[in-house]
Amino acid sequence: MFTRIARRYDLMNSLMTGGRHHAWRRKVADTAAGAPAGPVLDLATGTADLAIAVRARTPVRFVAGADFSEGMLQVGQAKLRERRVARTELLVADALALPFRDGAFACVVSAFLLRNLEDLERGLAEMRRVTTRGGRVVTLDIVRPAQPLWGAAFGAYFSRVVPAVGALVAGDRQAYTYLPQSVDRFVTPDELVELMEKVGLRDVGYRRFGLGTIALHVGIA
Ligand SMILES: C[S@@+](CC[C@H](N)C(=O)[O-])C[C@H]1O[C@@H](n2cnc3c(N)ncnc32)[C@H](O)[C@@H]1O
Repeated sequence: MFTRIARRYDLMNSLMTGGRHHAWRRKVADTAAGAPAGPVLDLATGTADLAIAVRARTPVRFVAGADFSEGMLQVGQAKLRERRVARTELLVADALALPFRDGAFACVVSAFLLRNLEDLERGLAEMRRVTTRGGRVVTLDIVRPAQPLWGAAFGAYFSRVVPAVGALVAGDRQAYTYLPQSVDRFVTPDELVELMEKVGLRDVGYRRFGLGTIALHVGIA
């Protein structure tokens, strides 16, 4: 599905969020900057926007971007070339079985991955496994707003407007119908804290922004 929408993915993100998605990824990069020295893994890097934000915030770090969609990675690779982004490598990998040794990264970040995982706990355990002891795991994803009235308005926008725009702009109504469904199915921010702690992360916390629709979680490995 992500390979199918790869060419229109960035444009759809800008349309759906009014361009705010870059500012949200910068918050992840700011949080990642507090990790110990060492390389960063952007898991499910897609078209590489978060990898680029991390490089811009901490130019001394090496960044690896991994994703299982070759189509998304091709768009990301072209972007890295065009913008001459150094010390950043993209590779194909499955988040549920990462091809990295234990503790390989000082920090693992992900944006808009967790909702898509078939086994969320296993994905989080993999993120923790490849992070150095004392390093950081930072995640960003869409969540249901806590305020019921606003939640209903957000739900209507997401389940009616977004699929229509997806059909028009990306030519793929199904992918943009899956998106609101994945948000509906996703755990709450508090449940995500519990799962992160269950896989061994410490001092887990989160904050919301984007009118309460985006949650940034961070834990120490
Ligand atoms: C919504 S996109 C997010 C892309 C990027 N992180 C961003 O901020 O725009 C979700 C990405 O997760 C990837 N993905 C989903 N499940 C995955 C898995 N098990 N292993 C690797 N990548 C996965 C998809 O291929 C897609 O590129």
